[in-house]
Parts: sequence; C-alpha cells; structure tokens
Amino acid sequence: MKRVAILISGGGSNMLALVDSMTGDHPARPVLVASNDPQAGGLRKAEARGIPTAAVDHRPFDTDRAAFEAALAECIDAAGPDIICLAGFMRILTPGFIDRYAGRMLNIHPSLLPKYRGLHTHARALEAGDTEAGCTVHEVTAELDDGPILGQARVPVRPDDTAGTLAARVLTMEHRLYPAVLRRFAQGDRSRLDLA
Ligand code: GAR
Repeated sequence: MKRVAILISGGGSNMLALVDSMTGDHPARPVLVASNDPQAGGLRKAEARGIPTAAVDHRPFDTDRAAFEAALAECIDAAGPDIICLAGFMRILTPGFIDRYAGRMLNIHPSLLPKYRGLHTHARALEAGDTEAGCTVHEVTAELDDGPILGQARVPVRPDDTAGTLAARVLTMEHRLYPAVLRRFAQGDRSRLDLA
C-alpha cells in the first residue's frame, strides 16, 4: 500500500477528491494533509475524515523560503509518504525541496500545459480566445508548472464564459483527473491519461 501526503493552501476540493478515491482496492491511502495556511478550509475537511493534518505557516518565515521548506519537509517525512500530491498548494518550491521528493511528487494545474503556467490561467485562456481549456497533472520538476505530463482533461470554453464559470467547469474535471492519475501512478503506471 502506497502512502500519500497531500499539500493544500485552500478549500481542498481536489484533496477531498483524492482522499475519497483512496478506498477499497485502491493501491494507496492518505497519511497526511498539510498546509502552509493554518486557516485553510481543507484542513478541517481532512480532520473530519480522520486524516492526520499539519500546518506550517509560511508567514513567520518571511523571506526565508529554505527554512519554511525545511519545517514542511520535517512534517512530511514524519508521515513517511511514498507519494506527495500538491493539490492547490500555492507556494513556489525551491529546487532543493523538489529534489528531495524527485519522481514522487505530483501537481495539478488548471490549464492545458504547456499553456498558461503560473496564475490566472482561466482569464488568460479567455483573453486568448481559446475554444478549449482544461487541467493537467504532472510530475513536479524544478521549473514551475513543468515536468512530465501524466494526464490532461479538456473542457469546452463557452462564448458567455467568465473566468469563474470556466474555473468551475475545469474544477469538476480536476476532481476526475487527479484521482485517476494518482491511482495509475501508485501502480507504477506513468503513461499519459487523456480525459475529455
Ligand atoms: C485548483 O483549481 C488547482 O488546480 C489550482 O488551485 C485550485 C485549488 O482548488 N492550483 C493551482 O493553481 C496551482 N498553481 P482546491 O483547493 O479546491 O483543490
């Protein structure tokens, strides 16, 4: 059985989709939900499901990113995970942290990478006049929102979409894509999955 730690910064809907998928014959189980924000709504939701949680507030570390990451890594390593899933974790990670979990850290990003790395992905897709949008699960490497793509899901962009309506449509696909990719990854399958 593979052990999974999930890192969040907010509401944690992707975290819940992952957690709720890891039952029955699933090859993995959640062992930790950690956040850089002690107020993250997802922490309460994980607690309610009986999953160990941890908060490492990034703010007291100010500009000392390495010290923040050392504290976070200590928390993660205490849970002994095989796989680390970033699920709406909104801190940029240094190469040192990424190296520590090389080959076993996944991220979900709300765009069809390599398009729209970084923030405001839906507004940028609308501005560009794209007719489709989507989300990507990829292995985390030192470059932001880069790394081998493990899966993508596509949705249509509608003429009356706002960034909000498009984000909501993409998010429902995130909740399908991430659990599907995690299951395959936990089985050692790194081939690409495409959902439409
Ligand atoms: C999701 O849309 C996720 O793809 C995005 O944040 C949201 C978190 O929602 N992640 C990023 O933008 C990472 N750069 P959630 O907390 O409800 O899962």
